[in-house]
Amino acid sequence: MSGAGLVVAVAGLGFGAEFVPIYRRHPEVADVVLVEPDAARRAAAAERFGLGPGCADVADVLADPRVDAVHLLAPVPLHADLAVAVLEAGKHCASAVPAATSLEDLDRLVAAERASGRSYMMMETTVYARELLAVREMHERGELGEPTLYRGCHLQQLDGFPVYWQGFPPMHYATHALAPVLSLLGTTVERVSARGAGRLTPERRTGGFDNPFPAEAGLFALRGSDVLADVTVSFFQTARSYVEGFCLYGDRRGVEWPEDNEGDLTVHDMSGPAPGSRGNRVVTRRLAPRDRPELLPEPLRPFVRPTEVHLPGAPAPTRVGADHGGSHPFLVDEFVRSAVEGRPAAVDARTAAAWTAPGVCAHTSALEGGRWVEVPDYRSS
Ligand SMILES: NC(=O)c1ccc[n+]([C@@H]2O[C@H](COP(=O)([O-])OP(=O)(O)OC[C@H]3O[C@@H](n4cnc5c(N)ncnc54)[C@H](O)[C@@H]3O)[C@@H](O)[C@H]2O)c1
Repeated sequence: MSGAGLVVAVAGLGFGAEFVPIYRRHPEVADVVLVEPDAARRAAAAERFGLGPGCADVADVLADPRVDAVHLLAPVPLHADLAVAVLEAGKHCASAVPAATSLEDLDRLVAAERASGRSYMMMETTVYARELLAVREMHERGELGEPTLYRGCHLQQLDGFPVYWQGFPPMHYATHALAPVLSLLGTTVERVSARGAGRLTPERRTGGFDNPFPAEAGLFALRGSDVLADVTVSFFQTARSYVEGFCLYGDRRGVEWPEDNEGDLTVHDMSGPAPGSRGNRVVTRRLAPRDRPELLPEPLRPFVRPTEVHLPGAPAPTRVGADHGGSHPFLVDEFVRSAVEGRPAAVDARTAAAWTAPGVCAHTSALEGGRWVEVPDYRSS
């Protein structure tokens, strides 16, 4: 890194384009390099963001001593190999979820991060969403009481998505639905039992996977915790609008993710059984989770909501979305600061493995009719 800040390459300019303006505005980032094999997409991004032409191949930025860090937003099957290559090239690496889709690749990733001494971060959006920040605050204040039950879900329709998504094993993408409970309770998964639901239609099996299920549901037993995590992921044939969130119930308060994925949380407060009466009194209300821009460097604060920025060199202001609960600037800030400060990122390789492996094991379990599968413990790896 030069004294002037990090040079960050953003690789993959579909979803990845959302992150380019955030990096450009980060006070510790000097420059952004675009990586995208689709020349037309890359040229459009270079024009829109006022950047140089970039390159087609991650290998080019790995060979460039000016580049300090690479944020991977390429298709899922490439994540593990590219992340290991980035770390082996001595660069910091951020990666879209999931970190990998096999236990072997998770082991390679953990080893590569350790050998490199560089920062790796899995960019798990749910753990920085405003909804989760609100629940974390309640949990830390003890307002939930003793947590009892967690329900995570990720329901999305992947019809028409690129072929690498067709027939994708749902639990291989379980991090959005599972990571919140692991992050909130500071624990990991010990074992999992999952079942497949439904039967994928033949035209949805073109991605080359071993998966016959449009949806999978699993029970995840947590280390050192009596909380049971009940997680469902569905990508096809489940008629439900998109939602990627969770509910967490304690013995005093339960909190439920917005039904339409955005908007107010539902909060249930339970006051304890009245003497001599049946049941328990529960008062239900809506709560708008507040934004937390004060946790970010000033130039990144606008990105917690959709905004418009006029970047240096760009011909016009450009609109930047803020999907996933306004989490994107928090992810960028944590990754950049971990690199600059020379410390592990909040979702470093071992944490990423601990959040990703349970889904890999859950799919194995579903293929075997629900057998309980032990999940590796990455704490000492
Ligand atoms: N909430 C979230 O965390 C979230 C949301 C959306 C997408 N994602 C993840 O982000 C990644 C990208 O998603 P997307 O919807 O943009 O996918 P996409 O398939 O629409 O786009 C991927 C882009 O990467 C490019 N690409 C392909 N090979 C590449 C390579 N070797 N190096 C660099 N770029 C390459 C493609 O040309 C394409 O432009 C996926 O892994 C997806 O799972 C995460």
